[in-house]
Amino acid sequence: MDSSNSAPGPTEWNEGRHGVGPWAEEHPGEPVPDDARLDPELLASGDRRNVVDAYRYWRREAIVADIDTRRHPLHVAIENFENDANIGTVVRTANAFAVDTVHIVGRRRWNRRGAMVTDRYQHLMHHDTVADLMDWAAGADLTVVAVDNTPGSVPLETAELPRRCLLLFGQEGPGVTESARQAARMTCSIAQFGSTRSINVGVAAGIAMHAWVRRHADLSAAW
Ligand SMILES: C[S@@+](CC[C@H](N)C(=O)[O-])C[C@H]1O[C@@H](n2cnc3c(N)ncnc32)[C@H](O)[C@@H]1O
Repeated sequence: MDSSNSAPGPTEWNEGRHGVGPWAEEHPGEPVPDDARLDPELLASGDRRNVVDAYRYWRREAIVADIDTRRHPLHVAIENFENDANIGTVVRTANAFAVDTVHIVGRRRWNRRGAMVTDRYQHLMHHDTVADLMDWAAGADLTVVAVDNTPGSVPLETAELPRRCLLLFGQEGPGVTESARQAARMTCSIAQFGSTRSINVGVAAGIAMHAWVRRHADLSAAW
């Protein structure tokens, strides 16, 4: 969990557009519930964070702990050798689907703007190299599936994604590195029909994560 910085950051731009005001204004005359998950500061000043209504006024740690009770055995990794601006989008989608952990491979720094603060509720792990990621995945009993539209790839639309799965994505220019594709159990491609060589990696990650959700998630547990 990357929780080193709890001050509002650049990903908190859109805060204030939704949410609730102070408890006393939203629930006039009602006592504040005796619930350790609630944050006195949010109760006093309102909760404008980008969280679902069920988590209004909850402390961040309580929200993370609650998601932790039902995270999926799905992990996502993205190669970050050139500092890809799409990683924030991947993190946000991973958060929405209760992905266990997002793995950043290569550079530590990435642009958090697209994450829209969701990175604070998402487990993140850094690996210096693809080999480090593969070692970690083997130790965690996860099957690595690379996602790219390279020759020899299997159509995602008909592939059988493993339940304990780590989906690995490449970067805007080079795509998934050769070493990562070699180390993965298989590479899945998303069917395309137009002129572009590829789709945005953030979009590709959303499609692939949702393919896993369709196959393995308990849809009755969704919000
Ligand atoms: C923009 S693409 C990489 C460029 C691509 N290798 C090329 O030849 O232009 C960036 C990443 O998005 C994902 N991606 C994009 N389009 C995809 C597709 N049709 N199927 C699977 N993955 C895709 C992959 O993870 C890929 O590594």
